Amino acid sequence: MSVRPDTAANAMRTVHVDLAGRSYDIAIGPGLIDRAGVLSAGLLAAPRVTIVSDETVAPLYGERLAASFRNAGVDAGLVAVPAGESSKEFTSFGRLMNDLLDRRPDRKATLVALGGGVVGDLTGFAASVLLRGVDFIQVPTTLLAQVDSSVGGKTGINTRHGKNLVGTFYQPRLVVADTGVLDTLPRRELLAGYAEVAKYGLIDDPEFFAWCEANAAALLAGDAAARTRAIEQSCLSKARIVAADERETTDLRALLNLGHTFGHALEAETGFGPDLLHGEAVAAGMAMAFDLSVRLGLCPAADAERVRAHLAGVGLPMRLRSIGGDNRRVWDSAKLINHMRGDKKAESGRLAFILARGIGKGFMSRAVDEAVLQGLLADAIAA
Ligand SMILES: NC(=O)c1ccc[n+]([C@@H]2O[C@H](COP(=O)([O-])OP(=O)(O)OC[C@H]3O[C@@H](n4cnc5c(N)ncnc54)[C@H](O)[C@@H]3O)[C@@H](O)[C@H]2O)c1
Ligand SMILES: [Zn+2]
Repeated sequence: MSVRPDTAANAMRTVHVDLAGRSYDIAIGPGLIDRAGVLSAGLLAAPRVTIVSDETVAPLYGERLAASFRNAGVDAGLVAVPAGESSKEFTSFGRLMNDLLDRRPDRKATLVALGGGVVGDLTGFAASVLLRGVDFIQVPTTLLAQVDSSVGGKTGINTRHGKNLVGTFYQPRLVVADTGVLDTLPRRELLAGYAEVAKYGLIDDPEFFAWCEANAAALLAGDAAARTRAIEQSCLSKARIVAADERETTDLRALLNLGHTFGHALEAETGFGPDLLHGEAVAAGMAMAFDLSVRLGLCPAADAERVRAHLAGVGLPMRLRSIGGDNRRVWDSAKLINHMRGDKKAESGRLAFILARGIGKGFMSRAVDEAVLQGLLADAIAA
């Protein structure tokens, strides 16, 4: 163990997600994988868990997590699914359910998701329907999962009609975010997750965005305190929004979609594949949302420049022509707008965007002049 338990305990921060009977804590800090058993033990209906992970993360952290449960007197088994988005397909989900049922669980079983957003979404959905619902705990291992997907209770799998179209709102009993596991995460994945961190500052917290500008380099280089602070602040923001709007029924939770209308269109054009990671698409999309806000006369140009400079500065790809490595493509603004019409925020053909009156001043708009949007996309494609 690289971090002694007392050190880990001292460095640990906790964010409480307040949802009446479904409230839970997010524990954040270095070395927490080794304390997950102790942190969970009092919450378990019975002293046994099944860890669900993927084939990349399981060899790295599966045994450490299982040992931490065993040390707390909890029996722990492990099931691993292939790494990657394909594990959120129906057939993979069916296979996982049968693997879980092979272990003869009862209603007191608890599933533990050890991995990124794929494992978290899949395991959360499995927990919500296994024996009509068993408890689950999240141990997110990507920055994206630690700051976004493990908080808020959305679970789901993919269909040929699109991503996450089958799923549930189902809250975990606990989230354990170990900042140390990010050391093995590929840099590109780390950066993609970082885009969602910066997003929280841009939505409604200008001080946090300024903190990001000053501390992103340390965070990305592995500084545990900077990581803990960034994850804590992100979870606080998301938890506040989720607590006010658990089932996404108002425009409030939609603020979390800053950069996502553009981002999803870019992802759809790149086939949701390895050419463009979700967080990369969101980063480019946030810069475009700020540019659009400037063109609509809503936002100072200097704020949009600051956003672009920061995201480009940490190494996120900002120019459309840089996307795709060897698979560079000819972007088409009509196709991008077509994807935006399919966005879940769009209503009867009216496009919806999260715009900004400045850094930390996001708001939802359905009144975007399409000619302005066309001009923005044409310029972004030409840049
Ligand atoms: N439920 C929500 O609210 C929500 C929000 C955002 C995204 N999502 C979902 O999250 C998924 C994306 O999540 P993601 O970006 O974490 O991707 P991911 O789960 O596919 O993880 C990315 C890659 O990193 C590997 N990995 C994970 N942790 C690692 C570690 N510590 N060291 C080394 N490798 C590691 C994984 O094996 C995988 O290959 C998508 O399916 C998306 O739909 C859900
Ligand atoms: Zn996102």
